[in-house]
Amino acid sequence: MLNLPQAPLQRLSLSWLHESGIDAAILRLDQIDPLVSGNKWFKLLEHLRLARQHQAPGLISLGGNHSNHLHALAAAGQRFGFKTAGLLRGNPQDTPTIRDLQAFGMHLHWLGYGGYRARNEPGFWAPWQARYPGWHCISEGGGGELGEKGCALIVEQARAQLANIGWDDYDAWWLAAGTGTTLAGLVQAEAAAHPVHGALAVPRGYGVEQNLSALTGYHLHDASRGGFAKVDPELLAFIDACERESGIPLEPVYTGKALLALKEKAGCFEPGTRLIFVHTGGLQGRRGFA
Ligand SMILES: Cc1ncc(COP(=O)(O)O)c(C=O)c1O
Repeated sequence: MLNLPQAPLQRLSLSWLHESGIDAAILRLDQIDPLVSGNKWFKLLEHLRLARQHQAPGLISLGGNHSNHLHALAAAGQRFGFKTAGLLRGNPQDTPTIRDLQAFGMHLHWLGYGGYRARNEPGFWAPWQARYPGWHCISEGGGGELGEKGCALIVEQARAQLANIGWDDYDAWWLAAGTGTTLAGLVQAEAAAHPVHGALAVPRGYGVEQNLSALTGYHLHDASRGGFAKVDPELLAFIDACERESGIPLEPVYTGKALLALKEKAGCFEPGTRLIFVHTGGLQGRRGFA
């Protein structure tokens, strides 16, 4: 029942990639499920298994008012029979994501900004565990070892489909990094066999480097363009052009920025490099930019 769906691996055809000689494929995690979409299925898998094993009545986690993570968690909870609670950054707001969370039956608690900043302090979870006894608590964005373990399966999914696109191997990965959990899963599964490039959706110093400090075999690139979730006309025009040319939907917070950072760094790859770009999903969050 908690079986991962298979993400299709496709050729990614864009003129600027051709011009730089990069042979690219895209792993469409956005297509695995209409609700539990993108890297979220992989990040939640081990949490759902553990919660099931412990017969936890519910799942609690944290996020912002456009959070892809809370969206997937609320949908997964509804589908697999767990209650859910979301601890939200800031003051009550009405966004398409929040409306979905309510429709999925998630209990919402707005922590303010100061309250949310305390999320990594010791003792943060104690009052929530008292309020929701036995519920399984998941750190922000589904980060941590369980999330990484699930994300390691992304590598298997791509490798199993290489022959479908006429490849016998590949040279590197490129994907967006927010907490670095997805990237860490790939790096661990690769065990240095292929480098993993992370395009930072957050500015340097937001903890990604720290989360990855025990690992080698990856490179981080600045991609946040002035801050998390900040958009600018060049980014939006680039997304629009790539969507028109490839037919693949993107969003501006993670996948659009990751692809634009790849374009900016394309000259660093040898012509003929076979690169797998991971579409990490997040399309529900696009509604926040409509
Ligand atoms: C669509 C999307 N892509 C990429 C990421 C970044 O993933 P991670 O936090 O594992 O680095 C996120 C955040 O979780 C996301 O929602």
